[in-house]
Amino acid sequence: MMLILGIETSCDETGVAIVENGRRILANEVASQIPLHARFGGVVPELASRAHLRVIAPLLRSALARAQCSLDQIDAVAVTAGPGLVGSLLVGVSFAKSLAYVGRKPLIPVHHLEGHIYANIIVDDRLRFPFVALVASGGHTDLIECRESFKYRILGRTRDDAAGEAFDKVAKMLGLGYPGGPVIERLAAQGNRRAFAFPRPMLSDSRLDFSFSGLKTAVLYCFDDLRKTGDVSERIPDIAAGFQAAIADVLAEKARRAVVDTRAKQLALAGGVMANRALREAIRERAGCEVFAPPIDLTLDNAAMIASAGYYRYIGGHLADMTLNASPNLRLSDN
Ligand code: KG4
Ligand code: ZN
Repeated sequence: MMLILGIETSCDETGVAIVENGRRILANEVASQIPLHARFGGVVPELASRAHLRVIAPLLRSALARAQCSLDQIDAVAVTAGPGLVGSLLVGVSFAKSLAYVGRKPLIPVHHLEGHIYANIIVDDRLRFPFVALVASGGHTDLIECRESFKYRILGRTRDDAAGEAFDKVAKMLGLGYPGGPVIERLAAQGNRRAFAFPRPMLSDSRLDFSFSGLKTAVLYCFDDLRKTGDVSERIPDIAAGFQAAIADVLAEKARRAVVDTRAKQLALAGGVMANRALREAIRERAGCEVFAPPIDLTLDNAAMIASAGYYRYIGGHLADMTLNASPNLRLSDN
């Protein structure tokens, strides 16, 4: 039996988790900083690092209590080394390094997106390499061929905004607060997705890249036009529904093509944007293969996914030493 402590601090969620043998979650503590950043309409990096620093030790204590184990019983420490906000990553990396050093435990560096992908492996052991992963979060929108453990090929990625960034920016424009994804999903459910015809960027392009910044601008122009002619508030659910439908079409179609191109039999959905049920459904309908998606709490940033990926990295002998540093631009293939 192997107990891995996972630590995640890449953005605005502090996570500490304890996972047994890569798949059995004994504790998965998450402290969200949403209230801290909400009034600024987005994550303020300096505030994020300080908040991680404040909560990380208490979070470790509560994870150990929930898992009913002591630090001595932990076999190895896995931590998100990147990508993410450098100050935030540094808090987790330094904390993990001190725990590993003091307890003489192996230190395992994990790529944040790899963690998101492994959230699927925690919940369903039917997922088998090779498969395609669609990772859509606040910072990334990537289609990745996962060929075997820790062997990735990027099939396509966004050329400008990430899908989650588009949700957040559109929500901010519409005055809906931060983060944008959940509130747009809720409003979209009450709106008519066909009321506005928003563009489907890059849909006719045969490559597997994405672009969401033009869609965001189209929503802005539409919103501004409506505002000139009167009360716009009752049209917001329609705008949200139209915007979400455009994202759904693009993600579903590109994921379908990625599956065809790679002849994959399975598609794994990962990252915070994939918490969106309407998007999941749209992708499921069109994928043409078996589709996997973690439960919502494992889709959003958490440390159980880091501990899980860390377990498999440990088995594969991918360890770090005390020179490990935060890598804000870490690429999957570098790892
Ligand atoms: O993976 P994640 O928790 O953090 C990053 O690694 O970025 O993803 C956060 C992103 C945010 O942009 C947030 O608005 C988006 O995921 N998100 C959603 C939903 N829940 C969170 N987007 C669409 N629909 C949702 N229900
Ligand atoms: Zn994430």
